[in-house]
Amino acid sequence: MIGASGYGGLQTVALLQEHPHLQVTFLGGHSSVGSHWREMAPFLGTGTDLQVKPPDPDAIAAAADLAVLSLPNGRASTLVPTLLERGVRVVDLSADYRFPHLDDWCQIYGAHLGMNRSDGGLCGEAVYGLPEFNRLAVSKARLVACPGCFPTTSLLALLPLLREGLIMPKDIIIDAKTGTSGGGREARQHLLLAEAGEAVAPYGVEGHRHTREIEIQATALGGHQPVQLQLTPHLLPMGRGLLATIYARLSPSGHSATKLTNHLLETYRDQPCVDVLPVGIYPSTKWVHKTNRALLSVASSAHGGQVIVMAALDNLLKGQAGQGVQCLNLMVGLPETMGLPLQPFYP
Ligand SMILES: NC(=O)c1ccc[n+]([C@@H]2O[C@H](COP(=O)([O-])OP(=O)(O)OC[C@H]3O[C@@H](n4cnc5c(N)ncnc54)[C@H](OP(=O)(O)O)[C@@H]3O)[C@@H](O)[C@H]2O)c1
Repeated sequence: MIGASGYGGLQTVALLQEHPHLQVTFLGGHSSVGSHWREMAPFLGTGTDLQVKPPDPDAIAAAADLAVLSLPNGRASTLVPTLLERGVRVVDLSADYRFPHLDDWCQIYGAHLGMNRSDGGLCGEAVYGLPEFNRLAVSKARLVACPGCFPTTSLLALLPLLREGLIMPKDIIIDAKTGTSGGGREARQHLLLAEAGEAVAPYGVEGHRHTREIEIQATALGGHQPVQLQLTPHLLPMGRGLLATIYARLSPSGHSATKLTNHLLETYRDQPCVDVLPVGIYPSTKWVHKTNRALLSVASSAHGGQVIVMAALDNLLKGQAGQGVQCLNLMVGLPETMGLPLQPFYP
């Protein structure tokens, strides 16, 4: 596990400590190098007391067959080529390999980070780690790029409807609310309790970096008609959880909420991590808290012509580390939900 001290790392290690077949054998980090697991995460109980080490690819390859990387954007791409050369299969939780074309990553992330990369071939090879739509490819992949919380929520809601031509691919609006853990564990002013507490605020309204990723993947996985959308995220004073309310225009033939719900039910019938609620029941982040489950619900607007899809998940599990473990399971031929919580301890 590389990036063990961060939120994605902590969740991944916690999940793997309970896992019957996968074991954590290496902890990598940066400022936490030298720390022992028991000092760093005493709240996570037992488990091997490994020490955090620098993420040297030879040391990782000597200790592990698979690596989960949960690092700030840009860092994974400095490790992945060598890890793959050493025969280590990788699940990356950052955005480094989520774009099939490196140019897109460079425009959205590279320019901001002042970083150049030359591993375009690996961007083309990486499998987008959304098991519900890429299960077979994930199981065979050397490199899996897991989508984060906003893309996972949005794509699970939109892809079945786009694929079937039930909604129009343009003018989609994703209004999303997220908790503060979405910003990572590093201290940042806007995530302080005094700033984020008792407040709701939009951010990244014009051109949020996940907008393009969702458009590209919705186009690729949803039927190849170019998808255009507006993503407006809001920060809410809660630790974890993500709720997206998505508005889309119905295709000219028009369909009722019941018909669209039935289509989602059919799509996700054999998918253990996604559930569809009956018409009139709307998902809450509390219902998916600390689970690897996404909940979807469909409603029609009173004036017709528009569908509203609501989707909730836990940003640190189905939106990050849980999805990573789901992919790891598939990569080694295990049942995909092994070691993953699917029921919340309500409330
Ligand atoms: N938080 C979410 O809800 C969420 C959801 C989906 C995807 N993601 C993505 O997942 C990735 C990790 O997010 P996070 O929220 O877990 O971040 P985080 O809490 O800020 O953790 C970042 C981790 O990266 C390590 N790190 C930083 N620089 C490093 C370097 N040069 N070498 C080795 N390790 C280094 C840190 O280790 P030290 O403490 O040792 O410095 C820390 O363990 C990000 O790319 C993020 O965009 C996050």
